[in-house]
Amino acid sequence: MAKTLSEFSMLDPHVNSEPWDMYAEIHKECPVYQMPETGAFLVTKYDDLRQVLRDPETFSSDVRVASMGQFEELQRSILVEGGGWEHVQTLQRTDPPEHGRYRRLIDRVFTIKRVRELTPRIDQVVSELIDNFIEKGECDFNDEFAMRMPGIIIAEQLGLDHSQVSTFKKWADAMLGASRSAVAGEEEIRENAKIELEAQLFFAKIFEERRAVPQNDLMSAFVHSQTEDEDPLSMHELQNMMHQLITGGFETTQSAINHGMWALIRYPELVVKLKEDASLLKPFIEEVLRWEAPVQFLARRAAKDVELNGTLIPKDSMILVGYGPASRDESKFECPHQFDIERSNVGAHLAFGSGGHFCPGALLARQEMMSSFSGLIQRLDNIELARPLPAPVHNFSLFFLPMKEFHVKFTKA
Ligand code: HEM
Repeated sequence: MAKTLSEFSMLDPHVNSEPWDMYAEIHKECPVYQMPETGAFLVTKYDDLRQVLRDPETFSSDVRVASMGQFEELQRSILVEGGGWEHVQTLQRTDPPEHGRYRRLIDRVFTIKRVRELTPRIDQVVSELIDNFIEKGECDFNDEFAMRMPGIIIAEQLGLDHSQVSTFKKWADAMLGASRSAVAGEEEIRENAKIELEAQLFFAKIFEERRAVPQNDLMSAFVHSQTEDEDPLSMHELQNMMHQLITGGFETTQSAINHGMWALIRYPELVVKLKEDASLLKPFIEEVLRWEAPVQFLARRAAKDVELNGTLIPKDSMILVGYGPASRDESKFECPHQFDIERSNVGAHLAFGSGGHFCPGALLARQEMMSSFSGLIQRLDNIELARPLPAPVHNFSLFFLPMKEFHVKFTKA
């Protein structure tokens, strides 16, 4: 018998890992749903999401008051006493007009031209990563491909050598760990803050070097892209922008690539179709993003009392905006729980958000997925799981969908 909503908990690691039945029940019973465990309001329907994301006066991205986190002072003191920079609010945590200042800068850096220039390097990284494992007939796909592919590209753009991708991964995990402070213990916060300090000191050095001698990378573009009538970004602001690029751009793309591969294993007939017709790669990628959106939720704060789809949300409540559930909304997508690259509105998902905070890295992420699946599909056949997936499949997170481990085997095409 189907479960009712009160029988599910988002904090149950199995529900959290595969929340689709719970989403369907939320859509049916109460589309703006207050989590009993945290008090946060989940917004889960497509139209509600667009309304929230396009009304920053009511639904603020400055979530400080509603923060569920603790140990913030501990984190701050470790950063500052070590010669680093305490967190300030920039970009994703700001509302207009302040948001515009950061957003203009990032839009000047993440251009179509830059993604086009980067594409040969992305193709080369894909090819080298496949070379590294193809003779073995199997690989730890999560570690040997899905993490490394976007990791190497961002690491190189931020001034690291590609061989330092593991260091970079450690920094990204520590920064994401800090954003999970609501559920983390004191020791974890302390460790993560120390690792983040190491990253901050590295970036400060690279900023100064690129300020003096620009190179063709993101860091140089950042420090040189301000116009004369704009106030220069402070080191606090620059550090926070780096933090957002790393936390926003790494695990998300890794997760999208993992889920694309998992879809190919679950639906092997797709591999045949994609091999025959490369023009299907684009809708395939969009359907991967819709089906298992890498960012399931992010936070907003109710700036005033507001009623949304029949639920009253009091001022200063934490709101979790559900890009994942909205992309499975049957009012928008026919048979939303079916993976279907031929659906008529295949790219209409909300995986990259909507409105003023729409993901500036979407072009880059889509190119990384295109290059990855184009290379993988050409070179691998008979792709299967090499080991059963762990249960639950994903590490616990209220925001993302990180696969724990993912070993695949294949033959050479
Ligand atoms: C498949 C991969 C990705 C997904 C699913 C994704 C998803 C998202 C979503 C849903 C938002 C909206 C946040 C909001 O509404 O507050 C966002 C914003 C953002 N993303 Fe991405 N992202 C991806 C890749 C990237 C990449 C590659 C980068 C950069 C290297 C990046 C950097 C950012 C930044 C900086 C923001 C904040 C923008 C703002 O607040 O104006 N993302 N992303």
